[in-house]
Amino acid sequence: MDTDAIARLEALAGPQGEAVFAAITAGLDGAPYTDAAALRLGTALRRTFPAELVAEALTQTALRGRAATKFDRAGEMLLTRAGWEQASPEIVARHTAARLPGRVADLCCGIGGDLLALAPGREVLAVDRDPVHLWLAEHNARAYGGAPSMLLADVRDVDLRGFDAVFVDPARRSGGGRMRTGESEPPLQWCVGLPVPVGIKAAPGVDHAVAPPGWELEFVAVERELKEAVLWSPGLAGVRARATILPGGDSLVATPGEPVEVRDPGRFLLDPNPAVTRAGAVEDLARLTRTWKIDERIAFLSADTRVTTPFARTLEVIDSGPWDQKRLPRKLRDLDIGAVDIRRRGLAGDVDALHRTLKLQGSRRATLVMTRVRDKPWGLVCL
Ligand SMILES: C[S@@+](CC[C@H](N)C(=O)[O-])C[C@H]1O[C@@H](n2cnc3c(N)ncnc32)[C@H](O)[C@@H]1O
Repeated sequence: MDTDAIARLEALAGPQGEAVFAAITAGLDGAPYTDAAALRLGTALRRTFPAELVAEALTQTALRGRAATKFDRAGEMLLTRAGWEQASPEIVARHTAARLPGRVADLCCGIGGDLLALAPGREVLAVDRDPVHLWLAEHNARAYGGAPSMLLADVRDVDLRGFDAVFVDPARRSGGGRMRTGESEPPLQWCVGLPVPVGIKAAPGVDHAVAPPGWELEFVAVERELKEAVLWSPGLAGVRARATILPGGDSLVATPGEPVEVRDPGRFLLDPNPAVTRAGAVEDLARLTRTWKIDERIAFLSADTRVTTPFARTLEVIDSGPWDQKRLPRKLRDLDIGAVDIRRRGLAGDVDALHRTLKLQGSRRATLVMTRVRDKPWGLVCL
């Protein structure tokens, strides 16, 4: 079965496969790849190429199109759907690779999302027990100029002597779907016990308690989208918890400090990046930006002057007061608000139902924030 799959991939990567991909590109002539285009191209190409090769190439073209959100060179990669979905986005992989020194072992390399950033310019051993993933990882790393050594094995059987560091991205899905929260293969406990400096990729929702003393937990976001968490062992750790925002690479460290004042919202509201919130660094952000909290437990900050920071989105407050749903439609009309994005934090409520009752008709777009101020239900209208 795997042998067949690999034989098909080899055909795709060979001269005839290249010719089919070239014919698909020519046939599309810059137009988007749609089901209708696939049908048309399939019929035409089967006159010249084996039907199976054409079908495989069309599937890869569809996968490449979707994977282009993650990889700059998706058009040169070969993929499986499950493989690319689990793969690290290139921008995140580059960030993690830069934290790993010297000769590295990439354990559980999958289809090579991390390997493509790790391998160029250094010695890397990539290991996976799935032969198709291993084949794809090598192909994809080569598309990025890497030449890793590949090993088909259970990562538990690999001799790690001589490596400066290890990166491990355990599977959090099995054949049937997602594993339970906190479960992975190999388990996190095994990864944490590795006898070399190690970075372990984990779900962004990972519990801080999984990081043993001396380890760092890094939460990585691309712009405002939280992508992953990485546990760094003491040899690679710098701090206890950190938020990193890509593409800029700005990083905010959670450290104990002076308590942050809690008071009513001012002219601006800061909505921290989710990586900052997950890293427990909201108070650090407040100290850094000289802003205050609007509630002891809610992750919004406020200021009277506009704050520009990579760690939060700053909104201008045009109305602020205790939550009063009955008067809200009238208030929004008076403020000339014709469309709202509703942001709810710390206040229960059905956002869709609320949306329907608003019957908006103004000319401005606003963010409606449903939250708590010093534990009282509160609403803010922000631009
Ligand atoms: C989340 S994916 C890795 C994704 C990869 N880092 C990327 O960016 O493409 C997990 C991989 O771990 C492999 N795997 C799970 N348990 C393993 C084990 N005990 N030994 C070797 N590979 C394993 C699976 O076959 C799968 O390819």
